[in-house]
Amino acid sequence: MLRARRAIQDLREYRPPLGDRLGLRMDFNENTVGASPRVLQCLRELTLEQLARYPERESVELSLAEFFRVRSEELLLTNGVDEAIHLICETFLEPDDQAVIVVPTFGIYELFVGATGAQPVPVLAKQEFAFPTEDVLANLNDRTRLVVIANPNNPTGQVASRADLLRIAHTAPRAAILIDEAYFEFYGETLLDQIGRLPNLFVARTFSKAYGLAGLRIGALMGSAEQISAVGRVASPYNVNSVALACLPAALHDQSFVQHYVDEVRQGRERLQDTLRSLGIRYWPSHANFVLANLGQQHRGFVDEMRRRGVLVRDRSQDPGCDGCVRITVGAAEHMDQLLAAIRATIADIGLLKGVPA
Ligand SMILES: Cc1ncc(COP(=O)(O)O)c(C=O)c1O
Repeated sequence: MLRARRAIQDLREYRPPLGDRLGLRMDFNENTVGASPRVLQCLRELTLEQLARYPERESVELSLAEFFRVRSEELLLTNGVDEAIHLICETFLEPDDQAVIVVPTFGIYELFVGATGAQPVPVLAKQEFAFPTEDVLANLNDRTRLVVIANPNNPTGQVASRADLLRIAHTAPRAAILIDEAYFEFYGETLLDQIGRLPNLFVARTFSKAYGLAGLRIGALMGSAEQISAVGRVASPYNVNSVALACLPAALHDQSFVQHYVDEVRQGRERLQDTLRSLGIRYWPSHANFVLANLGQQHRGFVDEMRRRGVLVRDRSQDPGCDGCVRITVGAAEHMDQLLAAIRATIADIGLLKGVPA
């Protein structure tokens, strides 16, 4: 009988709740308004001839490298950051290697590490989900071939300092250090300037969040030319499709659209945090386009009631250290009006049980 590899048989399935996402979608950290109208124009102008050809990526890769101020040999276009993570795991991990993952975090890391047969080494965040620098350092050893850190982190919205990240990269020269900057635009700090200086450092960026292109699946992985060339060997030359390649320059050139959205999200984040505070709901001040809140024993009731009111939010109570937690995406002003009204009405309805830490 045909059997999947042992490592695959042992994998836990990663199944985001994709069915029936009807209503205001504040559950996946997506952009709530979509991409620049220039992208839509670009889609309208696509020709059948463009679709008939295999994707030609070179010029887009060049302009993206220019945008990120890296050399073109230091950048690989990917099918979202998801694929960048997958490729890094395929390139650097052998069975029995170890990969340090600070948890709670984005579930895909553990999945792609596990698929190689390597061992994920979870390192729990400190109190208030602070970045556990010393614990990460303490878990580095000869078998560590990957350290992956989302900065800002999902689902907590917390960040690691530049100094701490550099310290980790210097301490583990035999490990790939992947800094996943999927939420960079909502935070503003980056390690991109270190690309080419630190040979084991990788930075991943996405166009799924601030740029509103999650459906097109475009990301970029940056690292030293030598390491990007190694990662490129396992990537399909057609991993980013022609439609995405045609639209990316239009999205990139409309920076005022992106900036406007990011400003709205930053304001919306303040409004959401103020509302949670005024309702006595504990939350963790966020650097991303979402906020993690603790609804305690009522987390399930809260998610269900919000859904009944037409607003989807994500239950994260199964994540390590996240008992009772719900993650709420932040979007444009009009969507925040709807979201905040639903939160107030839901709390008025279900109340807050005593014992929920305020
Ligand atoms: C930390 C983090 N990295 C990567 C991704 C996925 O990015 P992409 O859509 O580019 O695959 C997400 C999506 O939620 C995320 O939270």
